[in-house]
Amino acid sequence: MPAANEQPIGVFDSGIGGLTVVRALMERLPHENVIYFGDTARVPFGVKSVETIKRYTAQITEFLLSQNVKMLVIACNTIAAVARQVVKTMSPVPVLDVIEAGALTAVHHSRTKRIGVIGTMTTISSDAYGHAIHLLDPAVHIVSQACPLFVPLVEEGWWDHAVTRLTAQEYLGSVLAEDIDTLVLGCTHYPLLKPLLKDLAGGKIQLVDSAEAMAEITANLLREQGLMNSGCGSSEYRYYVTDFPLRFHHLGERFLGRAISDVQLIQL
Ligand code: DGL
Repeated sequence: MPAANEQPIGVFDSGIGGLTVVRALMERLPHENVIYFGDTARVPFGVKSVETIKRYTAQITEFLLSQNVKMLVIACNTIAAVARQVVKTMSPVPVLDVIEAGALTAVHHSRTKRIGVIGTMTTISSDAYGHAIHLLDPAVHIVSQACPLFVPLVEEGWWDHAVTRLTAQEYLGSVLAEDIDTLVLGCTHYPLLKPLLKDLAGGKIQLVDSAEAMAEITANLLREQGLMNSGCGSSEYRYYVTDFPLRFHHLGERFLGRAISDVQLIQL
């Protein structure tokens, strides 16, 4: 068994989107080994019930813990919104999630204390970002909006397409009218729409990329707990999916911005 700091970070998501978090981790922590799990047979989670998401999450957590990970990163905003407690209860290793990362960064950046949050249907109706932000600063005014069409548009590769722009105008109209100074991209897929959303939001609104925020708090935790990999040898990345590894491979390389090897199909 390798030393604790050489063990991989377990990152998981409902499907492919969590690769935006892996990408941020690879950039911020290039010496870390990563095991990624994407539940491609059952994605999307963002339109499923809380009970179903909790059940799937318990299965995923059990699998990743069996891989001797040194920590778990919940890359999926929807899972973080409704099932983070399931993971925390099961896990003997530290657990971080995108919502605490995004909330922390948003509160840190906002000057006017007017923050917008966008995400899947389940994430927005859970008000998980609202709770996390208000725990840090109860005075913040939050405006939230579900943007369910963004996930399929991003997976279609329409990151800068007229249809996506029109859809974004429709979704963001009421949020931008609220005079926010910070907008949290509360879904794994949204960082890929950053240039388009930035354009629409204008220069005065700061976009919070929850993937980047996640990489930052992961680095802090590893440092604090003495779990940082010292960095001899090249890092190892392994990917597990529950369906269609070929699609994951092709689309995943676009999400990750680099080549993917070693995608394995598993059944939970
Ligand atoms: N990964 C999900 C999220 O961040 C988006 C895709 C889904 O609905 O499963 O909320």
